[in-house]
Amino acid sequence: MIAVRNLTKAFGAHLAVDNVSFTVQEGEIVGFLGPNGAGKSTTMRILTGFMPATGGTASVAGFDVFSQSIEVRRRIGYLPEGNPLYPEMRVREYLNFRGKLRGMGRPERAKGIESVAKRCWLGEFIDRPIGQLSKGMKQRVGLADALLHDPDVLILDEPTIGLDPTQIRETRRLISDLAKRHTILLSSHILPEVEAVCQRTIIIAGGKIRASGSISEVRDRIKGSSGLIAEIRGPQDQVTAAIRQLGGVQKVDVSGADGWNRLRITSHEGKDVREEVAALAAKSGWALRELRLEVGSLEEFFVQITAQAAATKTAAA
Ligand SMILES: Nc1ncnc2c1ncn2[C@@H]1O[C@H](COP(=O)(O)OP(=O)(O)O)[C@@H](O)[C@H]1O
Ligand SMILES: [Mg+2]
Repeated sequence: MIAVRNLTKAFGAHLAVDNVSFTVQEGEIVGFLGPNGAGKSTTMRILTGFMPATGGTASVAGFDVFSQSIEVRRRIGYLPEGNPLYPEMRVREYLNFRGKLRGMGRPERAKGIESVAKRCWLGEFIDRPIGQLSKGMKQRVGLADALLHDPDVLILDEPTIGLDPTQIRETRRLISDLAKRHTILLSSHILPEVEAVCQRTIIIAGGKIRASGSISEVRDRIKGSSGLIAEIRGPQDQVTAAIRQLGGVQKVDVSGADGWNRLRITSHEGKDVREEVAALAAKSGWALRELRLEVGSLEEFFVQITAQAAATKTAAA
């Protein structure tokens, strides 16, 4: 549904988007995850036809975003970063105005407004001035606007930024609901957001894609290069030698005193060797008091790429 090939965007000498390629299949909900300044909004602005690219191609529903932008806009609903609205307008008035801008006729607008009011739970707020609404409600108005022409694809740029926890939960629930009928690409700078609503994630930092796949795939892949922590009491050289000989074990680092060995075990391709380690300890009569996979590795990975991107930026500045 969305196909991006070698997309590049330069602002002067700075590459905000650096040779990015990805696809989003029909019906998917994909999270574009990356720290501030990663290039998420720029990519989305290009996809929605608000900004030209420096190089590469992008298409939505088979239409090229540069040469067939009218066809593309017809199929895309876009919630821009910051969700600019007109505070003095009432919600219905605003949606009607937006529908006119899109060239929707009167009956089509009326039908569209009725439908999005329901889908975005606007309720009695539909006749309130936008300026009086809470941030969460304003976000729903932005979503309603994006949905008005019933597009196949939704591009949502940081849809829950600045909302309180209750509003965040509601907005996520709404997005999950929308995902039943639309292909969605949403951006976020926080991992739990993507984890809560997306089937797949594309991790971007410093304008480049760093990882992609389902959250659990990305987690597994990262886990593959991290390890298992075990604490075993026994003669250090014997314990380490025996663990090194277990199938799938690549590397063992050991530290510890008072008879307890703290082991960090790296296995091949993320193979889980917990059972083998436990069986070995039992068989050898060694006490075992801790055995766990290093958790939070995707979080660590994300923190790491965020720090890397910040360091590169500082170095470049
Ligand atoms: N209009 C612009 N002019 C110059 N630099 C820009 C412009 N828009 C974005 N940038 C730069 O491009 C990079 C990516 O920005 P952006 O796409 O907004 O990132 P994100 O949405 O992931 O936070 C940042 O370094 C930002 O400063
Ligand atoms: Mg942004």
